Amino acid sequence: MSAHEAHHGHQHEAGEAEDPSVRWTAEFWDERYGSSPALWSGHVNAVVMTETESLPPGTALDVGCGEGGDALWLAGRGWQVEGVDVSQVALDRAARHAAAAGAEAEGRLTWTKRDLMSWRPPERAYDLVTVSFMHLPGGDRRAVYAGLADAVVVGGTFLVGAHSPLDIGVVPRPDDPDLYFTAEELAAGLDDRWEILTSEERPRPGRHPEGGAVTLHDTVLRARRLR
Ligand SMILES: C[S@@+](CC[C@H](N)C(=O)[O-])C[C@H]1O[C@@H](n2cnc3c(N)ncnc32)[C@H](O)[C@@H]1O
Repeated sequence: MSAHEAHHGHQHEAGEAEDPSVRWTAEFWDERYGSSPALWSGHVNAVVMTETESLPPGTALDVGCGEGGDALWLAGRGWQVEGVDVSQVALDRAARHAAAAGAEAEGRLTWTKRDLMSWRPPERAYDLVTVSFMHLPGGDRRAVYAGLADAVVVGGTFLVGAHSPLDIGVVPRPDDPDLYFTAEELAAGLDDRWEILTSEERPRPGRHPEGGAVTLHDTVLRARRLR
């Protein structure tokens, strides 16, 4: 298990008393990122690595890029990547990691503050739109993800990796089922202009924060725009 995956298991404590709608604001995420020198490992997510390995590099949009682990990895493989996130603290950190990685990778990366609750990317603009561990409430999610899928060019790829609903109760996470979704549910939001290449709840070894091995599952959807 990578450190990245371990960190995702600690994302929120179960039973947090808060207004759930704050979880998608700049204030919430700036404070979270500001509370620690690194929230995530800086490594690429396994889903992104596995699902993009066979793709020729092109332009990519990394949505909710956080500290930039996925975007940096993609840039290192030749992708021109735009990382977007609601948190400027995260984006500044990602930019520092890119600078440390060297001029070549840095030159392929841009970082822009965007709030997905209001912003939509341009249509048919990216060869790859990738979203890792972005858990929006159901109604917002369907609208946001439809807009993100619209940003993929014909022949391009829409990739989503997330915590599966199978993990609810397995590790401490916000227990609102509305925040979780299967790949099948996501795929149902794509019409016949899409070819579904991967749609699964993919098991991976994890650790319970209180110790002990558990099997976690990632929701993985990869689809290719046919027209
Ligand atoms: C669990 S983190 C995942 C970060 C990164 N994708 C990764 O896998 O390491 C979720 C990310 O979504 C971002 N986010 C939350 N609400 C958002 C919103 N309304 N608009 C854009 N980004 C948002 C957060 O700032 C955070 O970086």
